[in-house]
This record gives sequence, C-alpha cells and structure tokens, in this order.
Amino acid sequence: MKVLLVNGSPHEKGCTFTALEEVAKTLNVEGIETEIFQIGTKPISGCIACKTCGKTGHCVFSDRVNEFLAIAGDADGFVFGSPVHYASAGGAITSFLDRAFYTDLQSGKQIFYLKPAAAVVSARRAGTTATFDQLNKYFTLSEMPVVSSRYWNMVHGHTPEDVKKDLEGLQIMRILGRNMAWFLKCKEAGIKAGVPFPEREERIATNFIR
Ligand SMILES: Cc1cc2nc3c(=O)[nH]c(=O)nc-3n(C[C@H](O)[C@H](O)[C@H](O)COP(=O)(O)O)c2cc1C
Repeated sequence: MKVLLVNGSPHEKGCTFTALEEVAKTLNVEGIETEIFQIGTKPISGCIACKTCGKTGHCVFSDRVNEFLAIAGDADGFVFGSPVHYASAGGAITSFLDRAFYTDLQSGKQIFYLKPAAAVVSARRAGTTATFDQLNKYFTLSEMPVVSSRYWNMVHGHTPEDVKKDLEGLQIMRILGRNMAWFLKCKEAGIKAGVPFPEREERIATNFIR
C-alpha cells in the first residue's frame, strides 16, 4: 500500500515538508510505502472552468497537476500539506487542488473515491485552522474518509529547525501517520473479507435556480 504526500509549499525542504516527512516516516515504520510529491515553484494556473477535463480526463494545462493525476490513481491514501499564506492555503496548492479535484469530478475517474485523506498545515503563527478547514473540504466533497490525529494537523515554524522544536506538532504528525496506516489496513482487511463497497446513487445536481 502506498500513500502520496503532496507538498504544497514552494520550499522543497521547508516547514511543510518537515511535517510531511514525519508522517511519511511513521507510515514507513507501519509498512506503508510513501512518496512525497512536490508541487514545485513553477506557476500553477487556477481552473479556467473550460471543462476540457470532462472530455479528455486530464487538465488542459500540462503541468504538475497532470503529473500528479497520472500517479494518484495508484495511491491508496493521500496527505496534502500547505503553508499558511494570509490565513489560507497557499495560492499554488489551492489552484493545484481545484484543478486536480475538478478534473477527477468531471472525468468521472473517481481516483479519490473512498481513499483516506488528511491535510497538514504549517504556519509561523496564525491561520492554521482556517487553512485546515479549507483543505478538508476537497476530501469531504469526494467521498474520502478523513483521517484525524489527536489535535488539528498543524506545525508551527518559520524554518524547518523551528518545526523540529515543535514537539507537539511532530507528535500530531506521527499519530496521524499511525492512524492512516491503521485505516488502510482495516480497509484492506474489509475488502479481503468481502465487505462490499457502498451502493452508489446517480448524482442529483440542483443548482438553486429551479
Ligand atoms: C505569502 C506568505 C503569507 C504568509 N502568511 C502567513 C499567515 O497568515 N500566518 C502565519 O502564521 N504565517 C504566514 N506565513 C509564514 C508561513 O506560513 C510559515 O513560515 C510556514 O511555516 C512556511 O512553510 P514552508 O517552509 O513549507 O513554506 C506566510 C508566508 C508567506 C510567504
């Protein structure tokens, strides 16, 4: 089993990475494979609502979003990390997630369906819970079980060295990793035991104009 951890920070080895690394190390101890996917520093456009993805199955812009979507189908779980920028998720990871999740929705591929997910946020000081709420909304729209920890998944720091001193934050990351590993093993055991996936319903979309 494999968990894909997305670093939504422009800093490849920054504070968000330090938090994700702690989750990844714990997952590895639990026998779960991990990969940290960097969204990088190149510009990531927002969604232009062209809906091309509904026809082609990938985003009209060829960048890290499509590279992520190409490997996301093979992952069993996800952790999305973001630095706090102005009390919200960073602009690049917001655009990245809008396009990744919209492509999945429009294409009907359902690569996130019933796969566990967690958000991890990093701030110098404030805006963590607002950012955490923002990221969790992608999961709860996509039928992804949200894995939690003993607190809200945040670390504090302006540098990775600061984050390493945030002992509570790092413990939250380790507990998150163990909880995700446990959930993945339970899901696998359930499937092996023949527990069927939930019955699906056709989507009803009411747009509040009729
Ligand atoms: C544009 C920008 C906006 C920021 N806004 C906030 C903020 O609202 N609250 C906060 O505590 N830190 C804020 N920070 C600091 C970062 O959230 C913090 O240093 C974070 O841990 C950096 O993570 P990273 O190294 O993974 O990028 C901001 C940083 C930048 C670059």
